Amino acid sequence: MLKLAVLVSGGGTNLQAILDAIDSGKIKNAEVALVIANKTSAYALERAKNHGIKTAVIRKKDFASKEDAEQAMIDAINAEGCGLVVLAGFLSVLSPKFIRAFEKKIINIHPSLIPSFCGEGYYGLKVHEEALKKGVKVTGATVHYVDEIVDGGEILAQKAVYVEEGDTPEVLQKRVMTEAEWIILPEVINKLANQ
Ligand code: GRF
Repeated sequence: MLKLAVLVSGGGTNLQAILDAIDSGKIKNAEVALVIANKTSAYALERAKNHGIKTAVIRKKDFASKEDAEQAMIDAINAEGCGLVVLAGFLSVLSPKFIRAFEKKIINIHPSLIPSFCGEGYYGLKVHEEALKKGVKVTGATVHYVDEIVDGGEILAQKAVYVEEGDTPEVLQKRVMTEAEWIILPEVINKLANQ
């Protein structure tokens, strides 16, 4: 059984997609053992609690340093025996020390077709604003391993989504989430849990 630690910062719709996929059997041999948020306001925490999943709020401001906060995350993840760390809407850049603690065991969902619209500062709505500004006709989502280059790790899955006439960033974001993110993230987790 692959134990997952899911790191969140916001609404948790990708966490919900994982939970639903486990419940429906789309993801086999995996369970969410721990959800860690870096904000007390993350609705993802409610989704976890509604599912009876252990949660932790680990915020930099509650620690003497970012390193101490990350060490607390590392310890919590290891205490649960998690074999995979999933960044699902997690909005903090992890340090090389954290990444090395889970070599090739951290995956991230990014709301564009990497290498487009990614890297420093590209997260949330900004990604879709830039895609619309550029006038791309196709965008999508990417699941990739996390390494020390922001959004630079090995790509594991991608799914394309058409940009439609009159799309706003919010409408495009929702389409990318619904038609791409919430599909490929569970698919990758299932693959890693059953390889
Ligand atoms: C999503 O657009 C996701 O691609 C990005 O964070 C946003 C919020 O995700 N990583 P969630 O609803 O908190 O899962």
